Amino acid sequence: MTAITDNLLTKRISMRPLNPHFGVEVTGLDLRDPLDDTTRATLRAAFRQHRLLLLRDQEIDTAHQTRFAEIFGQVALREKNRIQSADATAQHVSNVRKDGVFGLGELDFHLDQLFQPEPLSALILYGIEVPDAGGDTRFADSVTAHEMLSPELRARIAPLRCRNAYTFSGKLARDWNVDDKEKQALSAIHPMVWREKPDDRGALWVNKLSTLEVLGLGEEEGLALLAEVRKPLYDDRIIYTHRWRPGDLLIWDNRRLQHARTPFDPAVPRTLRRSPIL
Ligand code: OGA
Ligand code: MN
Repeated sequence: MTAITDNLLTKRISMRPLNPHFGVEVTGLDLRDPLDDTTRATLRAAFRQHRLLLLRDQEIDTAHQTRFAEIFGQVALREKNRIQSADATAQHVSNVRKDGVFGLGELDFHLDQLFQPEPLSALILYGIEVPDAGGDTRFADSVTAHEMLSPELRARIAPLRCRNAYTFSGKLARDWNVDDKEKQALSAIHPMVWREKPDDRGALWVNKLSTLEVLGLGEEEGLALLAEVRKPLYDDRIIYTHRWRPGDLLIWDNRRLQHARTPFDPAVPRTLRRSPIL
């Protein structure tokens, strides 16, 4: 394990890269213990830099998970799911729980809540019960993908905006547990290349699941442009595939990484505890 400890304030923690572009595994923490200010600041800095943190072998309940989530932002269940979560601060991505959301089948790449004016800033999933095969969560680097586009294409898309909807046309999104009429109402317009601050690296806010159209372009031209822009996004070189073990906790930057789920046997239980962070 190559530990990156140089810029860490706390020697207890070490980090190992998961992919050349983003993501580290953080070891040396037990999330049942309260974390001091220094450790919290270290985690926030690591999250900003690496955009995805993995902590393994955590035996935590919802309160521990929520306390960890609040290091990074405000936990908010604002999705209007038909099936209400049994819990006030966390949801369960589950094919077996009655209050499970988004629990079934394959999911294509997306950013969560891009149909809202302000998509989630981060998401946590914690493995409770996971299949032996399939049901992996995959992450694609929207920032590196943008830099892989030709300078001409980057210049062309810089001023463009897209409509992103809750209406997922593909059969890959059958299980979003939302009412049809609500689905139709929800959409938001966002820049094709998003930056938090003007000097930031841009992130492609185009995804397979929910980007409907490019504003100001005809349908044919718009869809062709979207297909062109998506080419580097789903290149294996900038994807990290997470094979779940119970006790794994992942937190990722929902605005700079896209996520997807591989298929799995629907007869096998899969339950992850989910914290959406604003
Ligand atoms: C989600 C999601 C993927 C997974 O919870 O938003 O997309 O692997 N989950 O279950
Ligand atoms: Mn999602």
